[in-house]
Amino acid sequence: MGEAQEPLLLRVAKGAQAHRPPVWMMRQAGRYMKVYRELREKYPSFRERSENADLAIEISLQPWHAFQPDGVIMFSDILTPLPGIGIPFDIVEHKGPVIDPPIRTKEQIEKLHPLDPESALPFVRKTLNTLRTEVENKSTVLGFVGSPWTLAAYAVEGKSSKNYAVIKEMAFSQPALLHQLLSKLADAIATYVRFQIDNGAQVVQLFDSWAGQLSPQDYDTFALPYQQEIVRQVKQTHPHTPLILYISGSAGVLERMGKSGVDIVSVDWTVDMADARKRLGAEMKVQGNMDPGALFGSQDFIRDRILDTIKKAGPTGHIFNLGHGVLPGTPEDNVRFFFETAKNVDKLLAVA
Ligand code: CP3
Repeated sequence: MGEAQEPLLLRVAKGAQAHRPPVWMMRQAGRYMKVYRELREKYPSFRERSENADLAIEISLQPWHAFQPDGVIMFSDILTPLPGIGIPFDIVEHKGPVIDPPIRTKEQIEKLHPLDPESALPFVRKTLNTLRTEVENKSTVLGFVGSPWTLAAYAVEGKSSKNYAVIKEMAFSQPALLHQLLSKLADAIATYVRFQIDNGAQVVQLFDSWAGQLSPQDYDTFALPYQQEIVRQVKQTHPHTPLILYISGSAGVLERMGKSGVDIVSVDWTVDMADARKRLGAEMKVQGNMDPGALFGSQDFIRDRILDTIKKAGPTGHIFNLGHGVLPGTPEDNVRFFFETAKNVDKLLAVA
């Protein structure tokens, strides 16, 4: 396949000029879609929906069939590789992720083992392979992983947390223990990213969703070095696959995100896109950053926000997206309008 045939998102992620920014949505498959809710009634287990390749493929393709986004992200979860290193989990309705028992002792951390993705995650191979065949070169297939700080937050807290007291207690009273966990996670996740790329992921997004909960100095100690380690290991074998880093509530660490080594920084909506551009510098590509809540507004409002974000990001090196995942309850018509408008933005801006 020649360079010219590569899909739009992949080309822009590699730095090419384009007539408009590519567009996709974090969490674009999920509960706001009626077809997903119906399938969920038939298959109530999240682990089954995400670990049975046929279901994961069908769910990943639901937004592709409905809206033709420029990126198709595989349906999975950041926690999916954890059982493969010895940390079982479940996702419980109305509660979210549950890890029981949580990982809090030296004995537990020492027992964790390296990830063998071939045996632990065979369904990911089939899912990514099939997605590539299904979308051909009309869209870009994205893989994703959780970054060590965020995965450790779930493993140590045992569930979603409001204030991260348990993992911060470990960080600030037994830092060596937490570093041991973080470096095991970094090795496993680097292996997993390589496996995703080998099986068809054309771009991979790292979610360090809860690294924005750290003060900048603690981010430099507990989040950034492990992001860098993953990027280093992956770039060694796969130097041409673009990597994206997303953090929720990242305004205080935006410049630091740029030091991770990724190609694209995904910006949340608490930062004005024009400011993000200035702070990250002309060399860094960006993704984002419309408030997912804007999709509850009128279509005029949504159109204005789309145009505003795209103008502020400028003509190159921008992947248009929300600033976080699309929210449950978002009207599907507004999601359709979001994609239609973003895909015609060159015409809209030309007449504006
Ligand atoms: O973007 C996509 O379409 C791919 C699907 C995807 C899921 N999880 C499916 C999912 C992605 C990219 C994720 C990543 C993920 N998982 C993150 C990072 C992204 C972010 O939001 O910051 C995090 C922190 C998790 C952990 C996780 N998984 C939580 C907190 C929850 C519960 C959330 C809730 O709203 O209930 C999950 C479960 C989960 N993963 C759901 C989906 C669609 C909702 C449960 C369901 O559909 O039954």
